[in-house]
Formats: sequence, structure tokens, C-alpha cells
Amino acid sequence: MTPSAAGVGVQDPGAMSGRRVLVTGGSRGVGRAIVHRLVEAGADVLATGRDAPLLAELAEELGGGPGSIGVVAADITEDRAPAVLSGAVARRWGALDALVSNAGVMLARAERFEDEPDGTLEETVAVNLVAPHRLVVALLPALRAGAEPRIVHVSSGAGTREGMAEPGIGSYRVSKYALNGLVLMQAAQLRGEVAVNALDPGWVRTGLGGDQAPGTVAESAAGAMALLGLPATVTGRIFKDGEEISF
Ligand SMILES: NC(=O)c1ccc[n+]([C@@H]2O[C@H](COP(=O)([O-])OP(=O)(O)OC[C@H]3O[C@@H](n4cnc5c(N)ncnc54)[C@H](OP(=O)(O)O)[C@@H]3O)[C@@H](O)[C@H]2O)c1
Repeated sequence: MTPSAAGVGVQDPGAMSGRRVLVTGGSRGVGRAIVHRLVEAGADVLATGRDAPLLAELAEELGGGPGSIGVVAADITEDRAPAVLSGAVARRWGALDALVSNAGVMLARAERFEDEPDGTLEETVAVNLVAPHRLVVALLPALRAGAEPRIVHVSSGAGTREGMAEPGIGSYRVSKYALNGLVLMQAAQLRGEVAVNALDPGWVRTGLGGDQAPGTVAESAAGAMALLGLPATVTGRIFKDGEEISF
């Protein structure tokens, strides 16, 4: 039977209480909605992004609980970012139960890849692929010390095999296709230690998704919560709207 993320999430509503979770890209959009849901569910969350004022506002919004919130401003493409974030995790908890690796960019929307500005692929891959890889390497000791640890990489249907045949956003598609490969590789090599899955949050209204998107960040956050509530034995899969889809 295909595991249903939604089903498991409904069965165990208290699963997030006290969980120690790092969320990248927590300042805005999908990540900010995930941080809200986690703190509302009683989790202890560290949220990161570059925009320090937005992060401070988030900490203010959620300061009353029921869970707790800390924020760290960092550009995840900087050399020192993995050490800064793993250091913040070490100081706050000494262990990590879940990483939601959500920060991402779509830098060009040209129909054809040759019309994207020079450097688009390099910059996109730096945020969407290289930074998550470096962050996971730095966080592995903390994750291995965590309780039923798991990683959720926020990917995209644009980077599935089916999505690769669609027009436009070439560099973004390639970065997410590679990220999906990273998920499969990490899941295989960390099997039995850390569960690693991907989330397609759907096309939702954010800075990245634009005004015309049909979905909301609240719907994406519900999908993330369902995925985080799955048994730790579920690994190497991609989910959308609480259901498994094909890479
Ligand atoms: N919206 C959609 O329709 C859609 C569809 C499929 C997948 N996704 C994926 O969902 C994730 C979230 O996207 P979104 O729609 O919420 O986008 P968004 O509103 O533009 O938010 C992107 C987040 O990533 C952070 N970020 C970007 N570059 C960063 C960097 N160099 N260092 C640190 N943080 C950085 C931003 O924080 P700062 O600005 O504070 O740095 C922000 O919190 C992305 O991985 C995206 O690819 C979105």
C-alpha cells in the first residue's frame, strides 16, 4: 500500500510536541507557514533565512507558544553557513530531530534555457542543491543524536522526470531534479539512521510562486506536517498534498 502522509498525520496529532526542528527559508512563504504550524503543534523550532527583520517579526508572532521559536539570520550559500547553523543547533539542543530544508530560489522565468541570464544555473544550484548538501553534512552528528531523525527537502514537481519535459524555468527544473537525486542518495546511504524524503508543496502564492498560483502556503504547510508525522521507516520518497508521487 502506498503510505499516505495525510493519514499518518491525522492519526498522531501530538507527534510534533517537543520535537527539535530546523527550518531553512523560514522568513517567508512556504517555510514561514511551516514554522507557524510546527510551533502551533508544540515543536521547538529554529528558523533561518537572510532577512533578519522578517525573522525577528516571526519570533515575535510565535513567542507565546505553545511550542518555542529561535531565529538565526544566515545566507545558506556562504561558506560559513553550515557551521553557523550547526553551531546554533548544538548550542540550543545538542541534537536535532528534523531538518526542513526549504530555502530555494527561482531566478529566471524564461521560456527557453538559452534566454536565461548568464550564471542563472550556477546561482540556482548553489541555493537549491549545494547548500542543502553542505547543511546536511554539517548537521549529521546532531541528527544522529536526535530522536527518530528525519530530513524533508522541499523540492518541486517542476524537477520530476515528468516536469523536465515542460517548457520554461530550465535552471530551476534542473536544480530540483538534482535535488531529487540528492534525496534518493541520502535516503539510501542514511537508511536505518535518518529518514530522508522530498516534499512538492504544489504551486502556491509566494514571492517565488507568484500571484497567479492556485494554492496557499497553509496547504503546503499541512503537507509538510503530514510528511513529518510519517513513521521514520518511510524514506527515499516524494510527497505532494499528503500522497506519494513519482520522482
Ligand atoms: N511557491 C511555489 O509555487 C513552489 C512550488 C514548488 C516548490 N517550491 C519550493 O518551496 C520552497 C519555498 O519556496 P517559496 O515559494 O516559499 O519561496 P519564497 O517565498 O521566495 O521564500 C524563499 C525562502 O528561501 C529563503 N532563501 C532564499 N535564498 C536564500 C539564501 N541564499 N540563504 C538563505 N535563505 C534563502 C528566503 O529567505 P530570505 O529572503 O530571508 O533569505 C525565503 O525564506 C522552495 O524550495 C521552492 O523551490 C515552491
